[in-house]
Amino acid sequence: MAARFDPSGPLRGTLRPPPDKSVSHRAALIAAMGEGETAIEGYLDSADTRSTLTAIEALGARVEGVDATGIEPVIRVRGVGLRGPAGADIDVGNAGTLLRLLPGWLAGQETGAWALDGDDSIRCRPVDRIAEPLRLMGARLRCRDGRLPPLRVEAAPLRGISYRLPVASAQVKSCLLFAGLLAAGETRLAEPLSSRDHTERMLVAAGAEVERQDGAVGVRPAVRLEPGEIVVPADFSSAAFFVVAALLVPGSDLTLAGVGLNPTRTGLLSILARMGAEIEVEGEGERGGEPSGRIRVRPSQLRAAEVGGAEIPLAIDELPLVALAACFAEGTTTIRDAAELRRKESDRVATASEALAALGGRVEPTEDGIRIEGGGGLRGGAVDSHGDHRIAMLGAVAGLTSRQGVEVEGMDAAAVSYPGFEADLASLLRGG
Ligand code: S3P
Repeated sequence: MAARFDPSGPLRGTLRPPPDKSVSHRAALIAAMGEGETAIEGYLDSADTRSTLTAIEALGARVEGVDATGIEPVIRVRGVGLRGPAGADIDVGNAGTLLRLLPGWLAGQETGAWALDGDDSIRCRPVDRIAEPLRLMGARLRCRDGRLPPLRVEAAPLRGISYRLPVASAQVKSCLLFAGLLAAGETRLAEPLSSRDHTERMLVAAGAEVERQDGAVGVRPAVRLEPGEIVVPADFSSAAFFVVAALLVPGSDLTLAGVGLNPTRTGLLSILARMGAEIEVEGEGERGGEPSGRIRVRPSQLRAAEVGGAEIPLAIDELPLVALAACFAEGTTTIRDAAELRRKESDRVATASEALAALGGRVEPTEDGIRIEGGGGLRGGAVDSHGDHRIAMLGAVAGLTSRQGVEVEGMDAAAVSYPGFEADLASLLRGG
């Protein structure tokens, strides 16, 4: 499905973006691991997070408040308990987070076998990054060509390990934290750089012993989890598309409300601040261990920036938007240390560079990032999403800011994280 996005008038008004995808996946999985019923407020209705609900149902959890037409504001999950998932074949669809997190829970069971598979893009997403450390813990796993899905998991006794992740990855860390709950002894995980910590926060709220110490996170075996109630804030990564659009479209004045402001997610805001963006952030407190608040954006004159190091994992999903903003900034922006971007729903170093270059941006992929010569803005043209939701929405925002408009081929991919994206955009263009 193709859609056209023409140079637009201002984005104005107030919007609450959809619930957080990362937090929703974890909410469903941890509720399924829990004893009794967990209420989840604000579960995301998207293709990816529905895959997780279907998966936990296949494992024996009961989900109330979800049908084909929608997801209620509060859903209830009756868990199977930490040691209760039934053997099953799981279709993860396009959800890399489900593919990487779930095996950690399954690997440490006393009995059972599971197979995880998904769509064509999932079949290219490496799982050796979880399989190798899980094997060190004693897990029994098999994957295609030693590194790709389908992934087969057989129940096995696990032991705690001390492990240094080769790359900062919240998915790998979360998988091993789940495995650590079922292992004998403590598991300690050190990351080269900090990545998002939603799993740690939610496990602590559910009664698990998870502790951060000297740059590492430790987890002790658990008998039971009792999540009780989980609240999902609005997704910073979905808000980010409108943040950048409002920065670049003259006359905009946009407020995004209820947005998750976990500092391990908001790296984009510090990068944009360095580029000269004037963005106001107002905290609204913390619920369920996750801070949230309002973000007000008005257009600003941008300058180029060097982006790399510790801020990369904190902005990993927003780096294509940094590249888009950099097309409008004075000077040359370099994004480095971001080779992980090549291992997302698409190779985003390649797909984001290709998209922006096709629209007239002076954008070049590098081995571990993107180099953008700014100042020229974007002419417009056509973009292929390559089935990647974030590239589809990048194309849409590029269209609004371009001189001639952008045709996005494969816009339907947006439904993986943000099914209402086009409707929300239309409402902001009408003034909120
Ligand atoms: C995610 C972590 C990130 C991110 C992905 C979601 C998560 O991946 O890119 O969209 O929910 O844990 P990595 O942790 O593998 O970098």
